[in-house]
Amino acid sequence: MTSPSHTLRTDVVIVGGGPAGMLLSHLLAADGVESIVVEARSQEYVGARVRAGILEHSSVELLRGAGLGERLDREGDEHRGIYLQWPDERHHLDFVDLTGRSVWVYGQTEVQKDLVSARSAAGQEVYYECADVALHEVESDRPAVTFTHEGRPVRIEARAVAGCDGSFGPSRGAVPDAVRSIWERVYPYSWLGILADVAPSTDELIYAWHPDGFAMHSMRSASVSRLYLQVPNGTPVEEWSDDRIWDALATRLGHGQDGWRLEPGPITEKSVLPMRSYVQTPMRHGSLFLAGDSAHIVPPTGAKGLNLAIADVALLAPALADLVRRDDRMLAEAYSDTALRRVWRCTHFSWWMTTMLHTSEDPFDAQLQLSQLRWVASSEAGRTGLAENYAGLPIGF
Ligand code: PHB
Repeated sequence: MTSPSHTLRTDVVIVGGGPAGMLLSHLLAADGVESIVVEARSQEYVGARVRAGILEHSSVELLRGAGLGERLDREGDEHRGIYLQWPDERHHLDFVDLTGRSVWVYGQTEVQKDLVSARSAAGQEVYYECADVALHEVESDRPAVTFTHEGRPVRIEARAVAGCDGSFGPSRGAVPDAVRSIWERVYPYSWLGILADVAPSTDELIYAWHPDGFAMHSMRSASVSRLYLQVPNGTPVEEWSDDRIWDALATRLGHGQDGWRLEPGPITEKSVLPMRSYVQTPMRHGSLFLAGDSAHIVPPTGAKGLNLAIADVALLAPALADLVRRDDRMLAEAYSDTALRRVWRCTHFSWWMTTMLHTSEDPFDAQLQLSQLRWVASSEAGRTGLAENYAGLPIGF
């Protein structure tokens, strides 16, 4: 075995350079804590990943408070609520009236760009395209991360490791099986998602129940639309020509209903996304702290994935600062329980939105879904419950 030729020391090694990892490095730096980010993929790959595009109220406040809100305020689009619909009925739920909180349309790719430019302006060390990333001695106070970078073995020793490396990274598996518990739900459907170069046909997002399956109209900007269709698991993307996609979207979203029209346009991206709920506990093991997708996955209905990652990191940054700078472990020891309260709330909300809106083969289920939708749309309590969860609970919930 070749011994590592290069050993570095820092306060916190952050495994993963997506939004969770980059935001954590930013918040830690603001608190005087040094970190090094280790990412398996290239900067271009991480920056181009298409993900959900909705920021809840507390995510926006956090980004602004961290000095990352300038382009978001300029180019993002504030939405008061969403439309909830089923055949022949469309209802607007106004989150601002119901809860005093709005949401913002601002894609994860944009959040990532802002983070990368803020971190590079500050001279943040980020290693991209790292192979064989491995975590060591996480049960001790001197954990380490090793990897190969440009053919050279590197070892970084730190006071703590933050696992922000998603569901495929090594961090979640660094918690021993004897210690961790995993909760999982695989849904019997997927989303076919498209990006299209066409102005959105709606001012705010439409979530539509339809006997043919769920459909959603979202957006990225005044000239780019993002739309989704429920499809069976294992659907090859080639089965869906552009024409077939626009026809299905028109039917499910109610083209022609009350004069509403869905404007089609050139499709620039097309992919099938599986839907899954996953929670791994605890979110801390010794000196390893999990944040974002490494600890939990939600189905995209309700757009909670990125918001949950931001909320984890907002709790983790002060906990690590106390640990590293003051040797105060209180917040670090509370991190997992505190973060999991919100994780389970969002896991429930995403499951609830998903199962309310996606059709199964079962006609009994369909009647229950329609009854639930009518109640949510017509009762103040129903609307408020959805709005409170969608626009988001306070970070410390
Ligand atoms: C999106 O814009 O990609 C999006 C928005 C809301 C969701 C899911 C995805 O619930």
